[in-house]
Formats: sequence, C-alpha cells, structure tokens
Amino acid sequence: MMRRFKYLKSVLVSGVVLTAACSPTSAQMMKEEGRATFNAQGETTIPEGFRLWPFIGAPLTPNGLNGGEAGFPEFHHVYIDPKSFAEYRKTGKFPEGTTIVKELVLLQKGDYEDGSKDAPSGRGFFAFSFNGIDMMVKDTKRFSETQGWGFFNFGHHAPPYAKKAAAAPADACAACHEANADEDMVFKSMYPILNQKK
Ligand code: HEC
Repeated sequence: MMRRFKYLKSVLVSGVVLTAACSPTSAQMMKEEGRATFNAQGETTIPEGFRLWPFIGAPLTPNGLNGGEAGFPEFHHVYIDPKSFAEYRKTGKFPEGTTIVKELVLLQKGDYEDGSKDAPSGRGFFAFSFNGIDMMVKDTKRFSETQGWGFFNFGHHAPPYAKKAAAAPADACAACHEANADEDMVFKSMYPILNQKK
C-alpha cells in the first residue's frame, strides 16, 4: 500500500513538474538559465546544478605555503553560468546576470609538513570534500556601488550551506576585487579558458 502511495505521489509530482515545464513563467526561465535570482529583500540562493556548469579554474592557496594559516586553504573550484560563458566567448565581456560560483574543496590529508601527499602520479595536492561557497553576480543597477557586482557568502564549512544570503558589505569582498582583479572585478588571468579566443 505504502509503495503504491509512493508511486502515485511520484507520478503526481512529475505531472506537476511537466505541466510547469510546458508553460514556464519568467522566474522559471531565469532559473533554467542558471543565473542567480533575487527575492524582494535582495537575497539570493545557490543556483541549482552549478557543479555541472563550465568549470573555469581551481586556484589553490594551501596552508603549507601560507605559514600554516591560509585564509582559504582549499582548492577554489570556479564555475560560471553557461549562458554568460557562451556570451563571454563571443564578446569578451561579462553580460548582465553573470553568476560565478567559487566552491572551496578541502585537501586530502597530507604525508608531508607542507600538506602535500604522494600519489601514483607524483607528490601533490588532491581534492577531498566540499567546504564552502562564495558567489558573485553581475547586476550593474542593483550593485552600482560595488562596481556592478554583488558578492555573497553561503558559509565556509561543509554542506549543508546557508539557504540564502544577502550581499556582503563592500569591504568584506568587493574592495579587494576592485583593487586587484584583472578585468571587470574578476581575476581573469587565473582562468586560461577565459583567455582563449575560441
Ligand atoms: C583579500 C582579497 C579578497 C577578498 C577580501 C575576497 N576575494 Fe574573492 N578572490 C580573490 C582572489 C585573489 C581570487 C582569485 C584567486 C583565488 O581564488 O585564490 C578571488 C576569487 C573569487 C571568485 C571567483 C571569480 C574571480 O574573480 O576570480 C569569487 C566568486 C569570489 N572571489 C568571491 C568573493 C566573495 C563572495 C568574497 C567575500 C565574502 C571575496 N571574494 C573576498 C581575492 C579576494
């Protein structure tokens, strides 16, 4: 009986999803594109499925190279929403709505003092588990005071991450990007795929 109920429930749920998919509202269309959306309070959520977006790079600032106290001792896995990536490849500019997610990924336990470890491929640093999310979203009207980008932090810890976040104050994020980033607030030179013409 329970089984049947479960089955019925899943048919019902997929029916609802199907109906919704046939007549998408504009909010749903935004979601399908993957870019971040905002509620009335200006808060946003982590875009669903971002780990399947174009993966543009993985900077690494391990403890072993930062006196044992790196601010972000993990790999920084950086993703960009697919639509903005395609537009960037055409125009060389980040369009409105560009959403860049940086997920921190802890390293496997090291064999050496610098945190590195032996693997069949050689001695190095290897990814272990997810440990936090930072995100930036381009919306030149909404974030005119921070060079057109909003910055969000969903926690620096293992999942589950915060469900929503409000824009971080300028001095927490935007100021450093404004002072140091290569182009339009993004550290573009660190992502070879963004530097390729085609
Ligand atoms: C002290 C400088 C500094 C501060 C403060 C800072 N960032 Fe960054 N951020 C960087 C650098 C450098 C990179 C690229 C290299 C890396 O990830 O180590 C980066 C990369 C990023 C990226 C990937 C896209 C890119 O521009 O390379 C995102 C997203 C991001 N930061 C969000 C944030 C958020 C959100 C905050 C605040 C909670 C923040 N950052 C605070 C320096 C900073």
